[in-house]
Amino acid sequence: MVEKKLDKGLVFSGVQPTGNLHLGNYLGAIKNWVNLQKEKPCIFCIVDLHAITVAENRFKLKENTLEVAAAYISSGIDPKKSKIFIQSNVSGHSELAWILSCHTPIGWLNRMTQFKDKAGKNKEKAPLGLYSYPVLMAADILLYKSGYVPVGEDQKQHLELSRDIAQSFNRFHDVDFFPIPEPLIMGLATRVMSLKDGTKKMSKSDPSDYSRINMTDNTDDIRKKIQKAKTDSLPFPDNSENLESRPEINNLFNIFCSMSEMNRDKIIKEYSGKDFKKFKEDLFEVINSEISKVSVEMQKLLSDKGYLEDLLKVGAEEAREIAENNIREIKKIINFYNL
Ligand code: AMP
Ligand code: TRP
Repeated sequence: MVEKKLDKGLVFSGVQPTGNLHLGNYLGAIKNWVNLQKEKPCIFCIVDLHAITVAENRFKLKENTLEVAAAYISSGIDPKKSKIFIQSNVSGHSELAWILSCHTPIGWLNRMTQFKDKAGKNKEKAPLGLYSYPVLMAADILLYKSGYVPVGEDQKQHLELSRDIAQSFNRFHDVDFFPIPEPLIMGLATRVMSLKDGTKKMSKSDPSDYSRINMTDNTDDIRKKIQKAKTDSLPFPDNSENLESRPEINNLFNIFCSMSEMNRDKIIKEYSGKDFKKFKEDLFEVINSEISKVSVEMQKLLSDKGYLEDLLKVGAEEAREIAENNIREIKKIINFYNL
């Protein structure tokens, strides 16, 4: 639950339709949204314009888009309460991204670590869209004058940039138009790591399926992956202080805390000094009891494409209405001729 009072407008977040949705997406983002929709108006987007910044993601776009929609709903997002839609279906996102790019110094973008990671060694060949990705993200948020953005830890830097861009626009035009959006990095697993290497983030693009629990995994997959998850030769720790030096154990521990909602000390007391067999069996149980339900529900929804399409269509219409209003206001502020 969110402790602070949320009085700064609506909640906005998104996931890229890039396949292999995993436990990191679930615990770091989607699961937290379910509680937020009880307190605030929420908009949850499937950010396909972001997905095409990486060439491989341009394949299977439609399939992956429906998979994200199914994951949202199966996790408990209620399409009657929250708006769910596809980013490219609302043209205001691209339009505002251009406007905001004129308020974003290149120096700010040069600091973005995600671009450095994704562009790799050959930055000269990286597409411009990958570089300006965070400006589009700021546009997503600000298009709806959103106040809160629930994301995983890895998006913190992009959120800080969105805040700077909002301020830059407001200052330049001497207005108080965009709220300064606040990141909500919630829960006990804000950065879920790979099951094979505790120093690497759990990721959709890891070539090994054993590095992640997918939201579409069945009970057998989950059991096998947890059994094979990397540990070390020491027994379960007797306090949480030295966990930092044992990244794999720290990760499994955080996943356990997050999924079981059990107190950290209680978990340590229960397993301390033992080997990992019993811990892993119980970890499997807590993950499986939640994820296998989501997975079954996802398969069910994905077999009725028409239902998902209709719901995304309605979501886009509702989002468009807010977006078009705000774009009109923004154009007035900029002083464009509107004939
Ligand atoms: P993406 O898959 O990059 O579109 O991310 C969608 C959401 O999941 C964002 O809020 C991310 O911060 C979150 N997320 C992605 N990977 C992880 C992870 N390994 N741990 C926690 N949150 C994550
Ligand atoms: N960049 C985010 C990610 O990779 C996805 C995203 C795009 C997003 N636009 C957003 C998240 C707006 C929150 C708000 O995870």
